[in-house]
Amino acid sequence: MRKNIAIFASGSGSNAEVIISFFKEHPLARVALVLSNKENAFVLNRAAQLNVPATIFNRATFYESHTVDEILEDYNIDFIVLAGFMWLFPERIISRYPNRILNIHPALLPKYGGKGMYGDRVHKAVLQAGEKYSGISIHFVNAEYDKGEMVFQEKCRLEENETPESLAEKVHRLEHFYYPRIIEKCITELE
Ligand code: GAR
Repeated sequence: MRKNIAIFASGSGSNAEVIISFFKEHPLARVALVLSNKENAFVLNRAAQLNVPATIFNRATFYESHTVDEILEDYNIDFIVLAGFMWLFPERIISRYPNRILNIHPALLPKYGGKGMYGDRVHKAVLQAGEKYSGISIHFVNAEYDKGEMVFQEKCRLEENETPESLAEKVHRLEHFYYPRIIEKCITELE
């Protein structure tokens, strides 16, 4: 039986789109559901375009009820992927999905992670610090921001005239290539 993946995303959803397409005809798994905490997030348009059901939830529902847990159960979700999702995951859901929730971060953790570090803020901090490299980090999710077990990292070199925009583009290119493949590997390794 193909495993069911749920993607949580708060923004544009370029990673979500690539992952949905990667698993479209995949024998191992498919993206069964997209969940967002932002009702106007562009990821919802992408999900509609690709015929993947989507649902929206708010802070109270996520942290103080079992609504999201029940949705995950209704869709028989086996594996969770965070792709530009900005809220801390509740312990309640983490414990139901041990080593089955992956996050991607647009820098080389443990540097440039933690609360409030997302998107362009990360790239600006990397450039301000004069780093020679940045990259991507893919890790399992635990109850702290960007702290779960590291699964995969890849570097990219920064140019003299690098801007937050050009760096974001480089990082997105790495993310789009590696994230679906690392998800595939982790799902293969499920018992
Ligand atoms: C990605 O670059 C991802 O690494 C980052 O948000 C972007 C979402 O892009 N995540 C974080 O910063 C998490 N702290 P997308 O919406 O185009 O996939």
